[in-house]
Amino acid sequence: MTTAELETWLRETNPARLETLWARADATRQAHVGDAVHLRALVEVSSHCTRRCAYCGLRAERRNLPRYRMTAAEILAAARQAAATGYGTVVLQSGEDPVLDADRLANLIQTIKTETPLAVTLSLGERRAEELAAWRAAGADRYLLRFETGDETLYEAIHPDRSGRAGERLALLATLRNLGYEIGSGVLIGLPGQSYTSLARDIARFAELDLDMVGVGPFIAHPATPLGRGEGPAPLPAHHQVPNTEAMAYKVVALTRLVCPEANLPSTTALASLNPAQGRELGLQRGANVIMPNLTPRSYRALYEIYPAKACLGETAQEGRTGMEARIRAVGRTVGRGPGGRRRSATGHGA
Ligand code: 5AD
Repeated sequence: MTTAELETWLRETNPARLETLWARADATRQAHVGDAVHLRALVEVSSHCTRRCAYCGLRAERRNLPRYRMTAAEILAAARQAAATGYGTVVLQSGEDPVLDADRLANLIQTIKTETPLAVTLSLGERRAEELAAWRAAGADRYLLRFETGDETLYEAIHPDRSGRAGERLALLATLRNLGYEIGSGVLIGLPGQSYTSLARDIARFAELDLDMVGVGPFIAHPATPLGRGEGPAPLPAHHQVPNTEAMAYKVVALTRLVCPEANLPSTTALASLNPAQGRELGLQRGANVIMPNLTPRSYRALYEIYPAKACLGETAQEGRTGMEARIRAVGRTVGRGPGGRRRSATGHGA
């Protein structure tokens, strides 16, 4: 699909036409990754962050937010619980927290890999190449790093201290690939100043990068951030501005499935937060094949406040797992077993 075609779909509002998009995305998902929905146990290991991203509730300048950092023992307990509850993957996510240094985390990764059958995915932000290499050597399998937006002017406007450095996340993704990680990336949908054309280019870029995983979700304004206070980039005229709506998020999920047929695509928490009753299911029916239930200890969960009203703040690991399984079956799908890594078809590009 060309960028122009992607943009036309992003602008589509006719319900009958959109039904054809959902059907194509669902058929492509079925043909390439099957009916299994892979569950990833998300553990938010630290809410400390040195960065000042204008959209994120964990930004360093938010000084009145109490911060936590899980101990190695707590993280290991969460991973053991994930394995015991039947998950195939644990995702360790945090703000950019220098205290989680190479050694400290490498030991932990090694222990998880030795003691459990879990695949380990890291989502720890922009880290030094030596750290990424040490974690890979310790056994980490995958790394998630969204590039957030490919529009360099917008990227720099919402990432203070990153002027002239908009390409760094893309360079890091290449580093991660060379280290042998499966790589995941993605963007925010509906940032003020984000145009249809730039979002269409971002979707095309997912395919160029041959991503193993793509996470996309609507931007949700957090009142304690510059974007939430209206201090960021001004919205574009309505004809150009991407809205941060649920409908737009489904279009991006569906188009991402069409351009990256083999990728693992989560139906994200941000989507579930916009529509707690149906968002996850609709994502699964419009191209997604992964869900990331939250296994962060409940006492910490509310403090990992990237955006307000995050879905599933209250439920326990077992409730999360059982409830999710029932919801997956209710839409005619099965729960994936094992690590659920990227499948590459024999003729797949970039294989
Ligand atoms: N709304 C939605 N998603 C957000 N993220 C950060 N802040 C927000 C927000 N306000 C996403 C970013 C980041 C991921 C972990 O969370 O895309 O990469």
